[in-house]
Amino acid sequence: MKRIFSGIKPTGHLTLGNYLGAVRRWVEEEQYRTDALFSVVDLHALTVHHDPARVRRLTLQAATLLLAAGLDPARCTVFVQSHVDEHTRLSYLLECTAADGELRRMIQYREKASRAEAAGQGVRLSLLTCPVLMAADILAYGTDEVPVGEDRTQHVELARDLAVRFNRRYGHTFTVPRATRPRVGARVMDLQDPTSTMGKSHASPAGIVHLLDDADTVRRKVGRAVTDSGSELVYDRAERPGLANLLDVLAACGGGDPRDLAGAYTSYGALKKDAAEAVVELLAPVRKRHAELASDPAYVGGVLREGAERARAMARPRVDTAYRAIGLLPPG
Ligand code: TYM
Repeated sequence: MKRIFSGIKPTGHLTLGNYLGAVRRWVEEEQYRTDALFSVVDLHALTVHHDPARVRRLTLQAATLLLAAGLDPARCTVFVQSHVDEHTRLSYLLECTAADGELRRMIQYREKASRAEAAGQGVRLSLLTCPVLMAADILAYGTDEVPVGEDRTQHVELARDLAVRFNRRYGHTFTVPRATRPRVGARVMDLQDPTSTMGKSHASPAGIVHLLDDADTVRRKVGRAVTDSGSELVYDRAERPGLANLLDVLAACGGGDPRDLAGAYTSYGALKKDAAEAVVELLAPVRKRHAELASDPAYVGGVLREGAERARAMARPRVDTAYRAIGLLPPG
């Protein structure tokens, strides 16, 4: 059975982008057809300016949301990254495998570093090295496939490169993983700024639908989505990104092809209304289940404890092998 690993970072409240680009596929497909691990990757949340209490709160909230969305702990392993030491143990070995230049070239590093600098917050060294930690997350488990949204493909490529390089230098140790993407919803754009990705930590929340937004908030945000003023509704991501984004969201929620859907509408108002209702319907059961689970933190805590134990047992032998392969003396 294929092994898959994917993660989500608790830097903000989870968004519709996280759901359509990643979580929904984990819930509806991956956990049934693969041996899957899903992690709230809290160490990654420390790579930018952060508030400790908020990260702790968001970590629990993200884990609760993953279960609310339908991850079943009897079918897959759900855990918090920092509960399993193997990630940081392996990350150092991969830092000794990666080159400074290949990390500095990462698009996300360049974007986030310039944002942090502009905010006067300084750029943390971990922001540069976090793709190596992500590679460790993936390689520690012998992962075959990594289901991610489009924005993470470059990072999975780095994990591939590091696996190949390590294996060549020190002997076969790691499976070489590959990224997989959803057919639609791989890149949900910000509703107010449809040329940038809908992200958790965008400055303005008006263009971001959060999984825990209530129905009226979703309707308001989708209703105010920026579109262009062309009279004919056609699907064109490059020329008409706002319209294309709404069509993508509608298609991702309800099935169908965004190009075909474009032909079915004659007004922006009707499209926005249907897109909003489709999102409301999609998120309602997740919100409801989240409220139930949030009132039972002991259950969620138990799932995470068991998940971490399982994950540790899976990662440990491979990471120990990597320690020996690279030349470290095993403890006597
Ligand atoms: P993160 O937390 O930014 O995103 C989690 C997942 O959601 C997808 N995603 C989107 N998909 C479509 N449209 C969007 N607007 C959108 N926004 C986010 C992301 O592609 C991702 O699949 N570094 C990673 C987390 C990570 C990880 C890993 C993932 C750490 N280690 C190992 C896979 C394997 C991150 O920050 O994701």
